[in-house]
Amino acid sequence: MGGSKRGVATLLAVLAAWQLALGVAAVGEGRRSRHNIVLILTDDQDTEIGGMTPMKKTQALIGQLGASFTNGFAVTPLCCPSRSSILSGRYPHNHLVRNNSLDGNCSSPAWQQYQEPFTYPVYLQKQGYQTFYAGKYLNKYGDPKAGGVEHIPMGWTYWLALVGNSKYYNYSLSVNGREEQHGDHYEKDYFTDLLTNRSLEFLEKLSRPPFLMVLAPPAPHSPWTAAPRYKTAYNSTKAPRGGSFNVHGEDKHWLVRQAKSPMSNTSINFLDKAYRQRWQTLLSVDDMVERVLGKLESMKLLDSTYVFYTSDNGYHTGQFSLPIDKRQLYEFDIRVPLLVRGPGIKSNQTRQELILNIDLGPTFLDIAGVNVSQTPMDGQSFLPLLVNRTEDCSWRSDFLVEYTGEGCSGSDPHCPSLGPGVSQCFPDCVCEDAFNNTYACVRTLNTANLQYCEFADAKAFVEFYNLTSDPHQLVNVVKSVDPDLLEKMNQRLIKFQACAGASCRS
Ligand SMILES: *[C@@H]1O[C@H](CO)[C@@H](O)[C@H](O)[C@H]1NC(C)=O
Ligand SMILES: *[C@@H]1O[C@H](CO)[C@@H](O)[C@H](O)[C@H]1NC(C)=O
Ligand SMILES: *[C@@H]1O[C@H](CO)[C@@H](O)[C@H](O)[C@H]1NC(C)=O
Ligand SMILES: *[C@@H]1O[C@H](CO)[C@@H](O)[C@H](O)[C@H]1NC(C)=O
Ligand SMILES: *[C@@H]1O[C@H](CO)[C@@H](O)[C@H](O)[C@H]1NC(C)=O
Ligand SMILES: *[C@@H]1O[C@H](CO)[C@@H](O)[C@H](O)[C@H]1NC(C)=O
Ligand SMILES: *[C@@H]1O[C@H](CO)[C@@H](O)[C@H](O)[C@H]1NC(C)=O
Ligand SMILES: *[C@@H]1O[C@H](CO)[C@@H](O)[C@H](O)[C@H]1NC(C)=O
Ligand SMILES: *[C@@H]1O[C@H](CO)[C@@H](O)[C@H](O)[C@H]1NC(C)=O
Ligand SMILES: *[C@@H]1O[C@H](CO)[C@@H](O)[C@H](O)[C@H]1NC(C)=O
Ligand SMILES: *[C@@H]1O[C@H](CO)[C@@H](O)[C@H](O)[C@H]1NC(C)=O
Repeated sequence: MGGSKRGVATLLAVLAAWQLALGVAAVGEGRRSRHNIVLILTDDQDTEIGGMTPMKKTQALIGQLGASFTNGFAVTPLCCPSRSSILSGRYPHNHLVRNNSLDGNCSSPAWQQYQEPFTYPVYLQKQGYQTFYAGKYLNKYGDPKAGGVEHIPMGWTYWLALVGNSKYYNYSLSVNGREEQHGDHYEKDYFTDLLTNRSLEFLEKLSRPPFLMVLAPPAPHSPWTAAPRYKTAYNSTKAPRGGSFNVHGEDKHWLVRQAKSPMSNTSINFLDKAYRQRWQTLLSVDDMVERVLGKLESMKLLDSTYVFYTSDNGYHTGQFSLPIDKRQLYEFDIRVPLLVRGPGIKSNQTRQELILNIDLGPTFLDIAGVNVSQTPMDGQSFLPLLVNRTEDCSWRSDFLVEYTGEGCSGSDPHCPSLGPGVSQCFPDCVCEDAFNNTYACVRTLNTANLQYCEFADAKAFVEFYNLTSDPHQLVNVVKSVDPDLLEKMNQRLIKFQACAGASCRS
């Protein structure tokens, strides 16, 4: 993960972009589809600690009438890099979005110039799709240093994007390049409901098949503001105990080791409240799903529309005594919900294949008749799995997780003793991130259920988990595992970190 590898990745990215320029001309000649695509993308919704429990209607209307994937993963556990992976179909080492800041390429001018032209909506638009985006885009979207609200990313016919990070009230939108400000009246401004209402308007007044509609509500991201009618829901719910809850990760990397364990009552009360409020905000997303699917049905579009439901990353509340956040390599932060229904998909399926967030773009392209091999995308279409197309039945058994830690150059004012380089610190000086919380992992799933991670820190720290015997990753077995296996995983990791396009799929 040093400078030279980054150089190689950049070179590969440039080569891939060249290949693309040559390939694009041929793309339009593929088969054309009249199938619509709807993606509902939530913010920070886990699947490991009960994040899907409130989604009763969503599970009934998408999962039970289609496929529920039990092994959906994000290739990086942070909003902006993950959303960039979804848009580009690429691993972070290829899209080069490192964190949630402009200087880490989140919605940066460089991202706009080099990556946005190759995002999935661009290909779909070329195939004659009408494209509609509504909701949170990338955390730095709308920043004056990145073109402000006037910047409409390539590929979108109708654009309604949140300026900045998730909010429920008092936000600004870019509506086709013009700023629209909102206050805090529930009936006029509650963001999740506004997105639902605008999506129904799009369907009713503007849409003509084939279309792509992406809805990206703020829930269940902080500040966890529920709709008034849901503010008392789950009033006795607590974050789940058991597993790694309030367990000291004593054999893990330094950031996890420094967590106070057992946690203080203040931290536990705080995370229980956050957990409840997260579920409350999700009830409005569940309503969104019901109303959008209801509208599609009343317009007789449901049978020709693929509906995908997922999240940008997972979340933790108390696991390894870390109060609340994402950014860690463990299952709770990298696993995401994934439900799909649509034409040719049998109902009520539970699927075990390993599906990544970088597979969404390739799948949308496949639906629209675009040959993914002629794009720079690293992911793979899982449409063949969904519709039982038999010509391509090989599927991956491992993938790469990459994360570049965020820090602050100065010391945290609450925690001077920790020194510079940490961030996301709680009042009791448990910090959830640091510059050296930078790692890359190989996660295998199929014949073996393993995770091997290398840190770019002063110790070159390594973690290794056997999830068959230890599903909660309580024991780092790096010191006892067969050295040949460690060597094999290390080699696989090096290969993955330099992969681009087809080589990421093999
Ligand atoms: C941001 O992206 C540009 C162009 O894609 C790249 O040259 C630069 O190195 C990236 N920045 C980081 C911090 O990776
Ligand atoms: C919205 O902003 C107004 C004016 O600054 C403020 O009074 C109000 O408390 C804010 N509402 C929320 C929900 O943050
Ligand atoms: C959304 O529409 C419903 C009625 O269809 C209305 O009651 C509600 O106030 C609207 N909410 C927003 C935020 O536009
Ligand atoms: C808690 O939830 C129950 C069931 O929904 C409800 O009857 C009760 O009024 C709620 N209590 C509070 C304090 O909101
Ligand atoms: C923390 O909470 C536990 C269980 O609710 C209680 O037994 C304990 O006394 C509390 N500790 C403090 C310091 O308040
Ligand atoms: C889905 O399967 C479950 C059990 O496997 C069954 O109880 C349920 O009725 C099925 N639902 C549908 C919509 O077929
Ligand atoms: C997709 O493109 C690749 C690379 O150009 C080519 O080898 C392959 O045959 C194409 N597949 C289809 C179905 O056209
Ligand atoms: C896919 O096709 C195979 C063989 O044709 C069949 O056995 C299997 O049940 C099908 N699966 C689904 C989910 O349709
Ligand atoms: C984001 O990434 C850039 C480039 O690596 C770095 O300079 C910056 O410090 C990072 N921001 C944070 C908050 O870590
Ligand atoms: C990681 O960085 C912190 C400062 O942010 C430092 O205290 C710690 O020793 C470093 N750990 C390793 C293993 O590099
Ligand atoms: C992982 O654990 C399972 C179940 O205990 C065991 O069969 C397998 O050999 C272990 N794998 C490794 C690589 O240690």
